[in-house]
Amino acid sequence: MCGIVGYIGPEQASPFLIEGLSKLEYRGYDSAGIAVFDGNEVHNKKSVGRLGILKKKLEQSPLEGHIGIGHTRWATHGRPSDVNSHPHTDCTGNFVVVHNGIIENYMHLKERLISKGHVFTSETDSEVVAHLVEEYYEGDFEAAVKKVLSEITGSYALVFMTKHEPEKLICTKQDNPLVIGLGQGENFIASDIPAIIQRTRKTYILSDGEMAVVTKDSVWVTNRQGVPVNKKVFEVNWDAEAAEKGGYEHFMSKEIYEQPKAIRETMSSRLATNNSKIIFDELKWNREEVAAIRKVVIVACGTAYHAGIVGKYYIESMARIPVEVDVASEFRYRQPLVDEHTLAIFVSQSGETLDTLAAMKEAKRLGAKTLAVTNVVGSSISREADNTILTWAGPEIAVASTKAYTTQLVSMAMLSIYIAGLKGTLSEERTHELIAGLRNLPGQVHEMLEDVEEIKTFAQQYGFNEDVFFIGRSLDYAVALEGSLKLKEISYIHAEAYAAGELKHGTLALIIEGVPVIALATQHDVYEKTLSNIKEVKARDAVVIGVAMQGDDEIKKYVDHTIFIPKVDKFLAPILAVIPLQLLAYYAAVTRGCDVDKPRNLAKSVTVE
Ligand code: F6R
Repeated sequence: MCGIVGYIGPEQASPFLIEGLSKLEYRGYDSAGIAVFDGNEVHNKKSVGRLGILKKKLEQSPLEGHIGIGHTRWATHGRPSDVNSHPHTDCTGNFVVVHNGIIENYMHLKERLISKGHVFTSETDSEVVAHLVEEYYEGDFEAAVKKVLSEITGSYALVFMTKHEPEKLICTKQDNPLVIGLGQGENFIASDIPAIIQRTRKTYILSDGEMAVVTKDSVWVTNRQGVPVNKKVFEVNWDAEAAEKGGYEHFMSKEIYEQPKAIRETMSSRLATNNSKIIFDELKWNREEVAAIRKVVIVACGTAYHAGIVGKYYIESMARIPVEVDVASEFRYRQPLVDEHTLAIFVSQSGETLDTLAAMKEAKRLGAKTLAVTNVVGSSISREADNTILTWAGPEIAVASTKAYTTQLVSMAMLSIYIAGLKGTLSEERTHELIAGLRNLPGQVHEMLEDVEEIKTFAQQYGFNEDVFFIGRSLDYAVALEGSLKLKEISYIHAEAYAAGELKHGTLALIIEGVPVIALATQHDVYEKTLSNIKEVKARDAVVIGVAMQGDDEIKKYVDHTIFIPKVDKFLAPILAVIPLQLLAYYAAVTRGCDVDKPRNLAKSVTVE
């Protein structure tokens, strides 16, 4: 997974390339590079490490020219190093390419090219593409690129540049995102909109197999067969600030604080004014269609998978349909029992996670009805699905997902009520209660975010512990999983989540004096049982922080500290209970001096297997 950019126009290319890459670092940040044509030659500058290192190199020896391409990398084939950084060039240095994805047949192609005398400098799969263009170029850049595309297999977004035809960039994509920003006498190419939003709001979103020849004044798009495609301009309606930090120290804190808005927007126009039903114009399912669903599978990765676990509780309880939840990388290889009576739901913030996309293709192949729950309009997963529910969280830049998760939960709740409505499994009164509860959420989250001092103190107090445990039952267990993932990924504290009743089957051995245990106790039907589990860890001298609903005085007797969430329907409690856990993780990471927005070894969107 990587971020790519391109510029052609009257201005110097380098400033846009660097600015664009800085907006794409969430896609990968282990190395970066740019190539610019100066009127005579293509000059390439690249460096392992963060973009800042490349910037310094460019300050010392700037690259001048009006056409260029750039790349920020997250290593897949070949460790992060200067030579493995993009752009990659052919033997002559006259053809350059940046690539996001994996060329699956690169070994075979590389061997063939080496036997023909090509000299490779990197360990990457991507370099093969540059040598292939060199091999096929006979005075027609487009024809050479087309020939390359007919040979490579795998996933890619690619931008090509050559000194032989310096008035154009060529780009194409397969299973990885690519947008073209349309300017006045200049054009931009990028993996994602935040890279170009400062320059233009008019875009073409390329589809798989499309190839675009981009000059400063024109964009010519064709499909795999070479037939011209009449692209519709997609007008970006985010404000520029939505992609910026907006005064917060980190994108993660900004995104935590955006949750009231994100939740409100995700619900807007989907809750009937009299709270009688959920309106999903994008689904328009009927009773017969829903009655035909015998089973639901929810497939996702990471945080989105945790949202799927909450979805299972919701759908099973409200719509009374059996639900399986699986991580995408497991689902696709376990010969899933899926057929035309299965509704397969794929949850993905980015809509680009390769495992989730591949799992969706497998479910489709098996005949399932597919539904994407995603945050990105026009993303691969949304395009592949029969239907899409968009979470309207706005761009999420921090690697650790926060607002995407809460909007996924809200979407799963709305979907469950919607299906239950069509199945007649939820009473009018209960539907009304739940929808009224949903309406209150933005205000409640806002209220919780107003005073975070206590959580900050806990994080400072316990932020240097080696191990932290999260326990809970039922929906609280699902939230415990997410709380533990948040803490691990950004603060590097070893954290584990356990179904509270499961601790005594082994893990209780790890609970010794002073070990922090975050115990969620928001579910009244299992409340007493959870209290017993809290007593078990207290008896081993753990330090327990309880998360409970306001008005619960009982819990205070058994825990060391309590974080209260506003009183809410038990189904909606996860949406509030996760907020203090996000904050705990955030402040623990800040206390430990971690790189909150870009945790080590991780990238925002995982478009490799
Ligand atoms: C964790 C996190 C990841 C993602 C996962 C799936 O905070 O963000 O676990 O949830 O990589 O990504 P999407 O939702 O884009 O498919």
